[in-house]
Amino acid sequence: MDAAYKRVNGDYGTEAETEEITGRKRSGSMYLEEETDKKSEVISCIFSLKEEVGALAKALRLFEDKGINLMHIESRPSRMNKDQYEFFISVDSTCSQALDEVIDGLRTQISGHVHELSRNKQKDTVPWFPNDIQDLDRFANQILSYGSELDADHPGFTDPVYRARRKEFADIAYNYRHGQTIPRVEYTEEERATWGIVFKELKTLYPTHACREHNRVFPLLEKYCGYRQDNIPQLEDVSRFLQSCTGFRLRPVAGLLSSRDFLAGLAFRVFHSTQYIRHSSKPTYTPEPDICHELLGHVPLFADPSFAQFSQEIGLASLGAPDEYIEKLATVYWFTVEFGLCKQGSEIKAYGAGLLSSFGELQYCLTDEPKVLPFDPDKTSLQKYPITEYQPVYFVAESFEDAKEKVRRFAATIPRPFSVRYNPYTQSIEVLDNTQQLRNLADSINSELGKLCEAMRKLE
Ligand SMILES: [Fe+2]
Repeated sequence: MDAAYKRVNGDYGTEAETEEITGRKRSGSMYLEEETDKKSEVISCIFSLKEEVGALAKALRLFEDKGINLMHIESRPSRMNKDQYEFFISVDSTCSQALDEVIDGLRTQISGHVHELSRNKQKDTVPWFPNDIQDLDRFANQILSYGSELDADHPGFTDPVYRARRKEFADIAYNYRHGQTIPRVEYTEEERATWGIVFKELKTLYPTHACREHNRVFPLLEKYCGYRQDNIPQLEDVSRFLQSCTGFRLRPVAGLLSSRDFLAGLAFRVFHSTQYIRHSSKPTYTPEPDICHELLGHVPLFADPSFAQFSQEIGLASLGAPDEYIEKLATVYWFTVEFGLCKQGSEIKAYGAGLLSSFGELQYCLTDEPKVLPFDPDKTSLQKYPITEYQPVYFVAESFEDAKEKVRRFAATIPRPFSVRYNPYTQSIEVLDNTQQLRNLADSINSELGKLCEAMRKLE
């Protein structure tokens, strides 16, 4: 078990030491994955029982009745409830079905807390998710394709110089760890020329087509982050700017992440960003995200507090969610953060990064051609979409606040045995599944409410 708590990149000591240093319990770690290198034929779970005579015997009888042989059992005082004990057990995976029945029995007859520990998508299991911001290092390199592996129809496929350059960018991201400065890149003249074409064209459309939040932030990026036609801004400078606005930060990524991992980053206000630029032969086209898409499309919105919170809400909803809900959340993300439209006064404007970084689609999306529907996560999450052509359907949000509330309500329908909250002071996820966590949250809300009341009194 302890090996499951070990972090990949860092000398964090044991869990107990970490608790001592940080003064907080890592209760969320109950949901960490098991070791995957061995015991694949073993299923493990943790259950807790009240400390009373005969409680364990009663629980063990359930296993005995189903003919399940326990391969391993250990106990410890419960971290969630002081008057309970937790038991960690392992059984042979051939007992999987019988174990389901025992777990039902534990839940209904003995009213124990049960958590299955595994990542192999069995019923009632909770997939692993990062607990604190350093944990993002654990999946940053679990990418679906490495930066220099281009598809045959990619404009740079037959260009060896471009491919070598893509590998340089991929290597920067591959070696990056949380907390480090993002390495600066000396962009070539050809790369700056490509950026210049995209920058100049899009800038002419923003005043009429982009949402007001984008137009408010863009001049600040020009002033503080080197957004210019003849200069590709550095991720590190942009990341620092974003942190000062909303706490969002950029992290270079070497290739395509899975939806689960990408969305998890948003829960920590971390945006995985590419650093390379599209091929110079087609400056107005890219089959994948590139630095033009990230810096012109995404970054201005992440500097807006309301949008930042909305994005984080999608990320938090994804933590520990079942696969089918990850797909739904990824679709919600697609139709909002990537291709969202929103009402502003009597007009409709674009806020999705896929629109704000595409000269053609930014014009098209506000014509009468596409279908426009109100944003409703229940329906939006089921909408099919093409990825290589303009969207036939867009969803319009009333406002970011309204969209955030809707995502929050949608998130509440995701089957998870706990709620989560992000603690910005410790940059970690708090799993709200025990009384101590709830008490901490109540204390924090109480203190904030006190400040609110005092401020209101002073204003009167
Ligand atoms: Fe994007």
